[in-house]
Amino acid sequence: MKQTFLLLAMLTLGSAQAQKNKPMNKEQEIEQKVDALLAKMTLEEKVGQMNQYNGFWDVTGPSPKEGNAALKYEHLRKGWVGSMLTVRGVKEVRAVQKIAVEETRLGIPLIIGFDVIHGYKTLSPIPLAEAASWDMEAIQQSATTAASEAAASGINWTFGPNVDISRDARWGRVMEGAGEDPFLGSKVAEARVKGFQGSNRSDLASPLTIAACAKHFAGYGFAEAGRDYNTVDMGNATLYNTVLPPFKAAKEAGVRTFMNSFNILNGVPATGNSFLQRDILKGKWGFDGFVITDWASVREMITHGFAEDRAEATVKAVNAGADMDMESYAYVNELVQLVNEGKVDIALVDDAVRRILRVKYELGLFDDPYKYCDEKREKATIGSKANNEAVLDMAKKSIVLLKNDNQLLPLKKKGQKIALIGALAANKNSPLGSWRIASDDNTAISVLEGMQQYKGNELVYEKGADLTIGKTTFLDELVFNTADRSGFEAAKKAAKEADVVVMVLGEHGFQSGEGRSRTHLDLPGLQQELLEEIYKINPNIVLVLNNGRPLALPWAAENIPAIVEAWHLGTQTGNAVAQVLYGDYNPSGKLPMSFPRNVGQVPIYYNQHSTGRPIDSDNNVFWSHYSDAEKTPQFAFGHGLSYTTFKYGTVQLNKKEYSKGEPVKVSVDITNTGNYDGKEVVQLYIRDIAASLSRPVKELKGFEMVSLKKGETKTVTFTLTDKELGFYNNEGEYLVEPGTFKVFVGTSSDNVQETTFKLR
Ligand code: BGC
Repeated sequence: MKQTFLLLAMLTLGSAQAQKNKPMNKEQEIEQKVDALLAKMTLEEKVGQMNQYNGFWDVTGPSPKEGNAALKYEHLRKGWVGSMLTVRGVKEVRAVQKIAVEETRLGIPLIIGFDVIHGYKTLSPIPLAEAASWDMEAIQQSATTAASEAAASGINWTFGPNVDISRDARWGRVMEGAGEDPFLGSKVAEARVKGFQGSNRSDLASPLTIAACAKHFAGYGFAEAGRDYNTVDMGNATLYNTVLPPFKAAKEAGVRTFMNSFNILNGVPATGNSFLQRDILKGKWGFDGFVITDWASVREMITHGFAEDRAEATVKAVNAGADMDMESYAYVNELVQLVNEGKVDIALVDDAVRRILRVKYELGLFDDPYKYCDEKREKATIGSKANNEAVLDMAKKSIVLLKNDNQLLPLKKKGQKIALIGALAANKNSPLGSWRIASDDNTAISVLEGMQQYKGNELVYEKGADLTIGKTTFLDELVFNTADRSGFEAAKKAAKEADVVVMVLGEHGFQSGEGRSRTHLDLPGLQQELLEEIYKINPNIVLVLNNGRPLALPWAAENIPAIVEAWHLGTQTGNAVAQVLYGDYNPSGKLPMSFPRNVGQVPIYYNQHSTGRPIDSDNNVFWSHYSDAEKTPQFAFGHGLSYTTFKYGTVQLNKKEYSKGEPVKVSVDITNTGNYDGKEVVQLYIRDIAASLSRPVKELKGFEMVSLKKGETKTVTFTLTDKELGFYNNEGEYLVEPGTFKVFVGTSSDNVQETTFKLR
């Protein structure tokens, strides 16, 4: 009883807050329409809105007569389905929408969801790679491009952005996020939401935008031991300061939906987690869109041991604020009866349906349910030249130059013999990355094809060794080649005769992503062996890495003179890599996640706490370190080189003491001292020296990308306010505490200059 009362109080608060946030007119009009429609709906129809099914048969063909698909079809006709996912293409979407609109009693249109994670058909770099650009305009544009392609295909809702912070490279889904840092992650979240949806709520009505979904709420990136779906246990300090900020940023950018997550958080499954969904999201933050569960996550609460059966799982999920059930078959089968028996309050059902209808109205689906179903637009948009140019631009910006000894890069354009080695160099499938359901296999430009565009050099390609054996798909475990070395000799011969060897090595595109956790962060298969063999013959190697997570490659980091982090860059991979290798594009990316020296260091992240014994002050073993490896990462968060060099001047503050609320101005001069025009991401970190909770040794609180011509100097000024200087305590209160702060400015988290100020 008490619980219901609290829930109702929160609902009222939620909608009062929603009202307060809203300008008049359009939004009020929508509220009225939602109320009017809700008043007409039967309980079954309401529950139907809360039910989402995966695409089920060739909808443009004859409808099925039996089985699961027949059941879904029947439910659709009854109005028991509010949304479908993974139906795509104008013809298909129109067909399902037609059933919902023309055959159901109230004709409520479906909202059509899809995982538009890194592009739709024209694929952009994996999200982790995009985050490495630190270029928010580019990231926003990339989401805009993806949205327009998806929208042209009938889709009006993406299950993105993934805003999970993670410090664990073993977890395969780090490829979907923006890395380890909550500040960068929040900026990226905002850019992606605005890119998908537009900058204002009214932009949602455009047929070129789609609703976004911040996921996975919350804590999913902290799966123990990096094993996907595993237990998450964390204190409030980490939850409030590290995990939640990007979700909050997404909410503030106007994201219309959230997806909860598979994991338990401190014992409570996220799907049945009232603290997350009701108290924080819909309560404190006043979110008035809706929450979708992750795939079958209501049902999985039974497996978690949190509910006896589907009915109990439904009660817990609805009470906790999960508005729409994705593929659990729980709400559609249980909820009507649960309401009739008084086990779920109808007010909670009404609230969920109100939220779902609100978003449907905002998308304009009631004005025209077929507004995303325009064949002409579909033909003109999908795979267009403009979209290919856009993803190429993003791909170049995502590349990170990790090492460039002796200025081996950029490659000379003429008179060179180049050996290109590695199975991934010619692979047209792997570079597409993991989430690419709408794309065709083998449609990426390979690195080989990209390099073939440069005709002034002699290019010889040898694969050396296959990476995988058998099929490589989204669903199946990969099998690696660990035995067939028959291509080694030809590769060695090519290396021997070459001036420069370019080796493309790393992970297959299907080696990261959902269900793809690893305990090794090395080069799979025979690649490390091949690399070392080639090195013996010709050490003049440029290593181009393809991977969806940080790798630990200590031997390569030590020995290979030039290393380019090229991730999985999508459709235009080969062109982007070739343009960077040949210097037609000067790389400016910076790592959004620390690269460990070995897997035993994981989780490793720059914004760690000091510990009581951070350094070896007494010349003995009793300090926080490893006896068999450095404790620093191989490549730090924020690291990334350019073909030019930048010199930082002294960090200046406008004052030495500030009172609370007063802006702190930090400035520094940057000069391009090298031989190329270039871009540098200037990074600002702070440390709150002593606070009521121990604060990290460094926290990113600002960054700016500056373009500098050869010899040019620019001054970059950052402003720190309460928003940057405070933190959340264990009760979730935001505090700005007086005391001494360090400010660091530099080119990466481990290469900065510092100064201090006092906050009174
Ligand atoms: C994933 C989600 C995804 C959903 C729908 C789940 O397995 O965790 O991120 O959006 O499937 O495809």
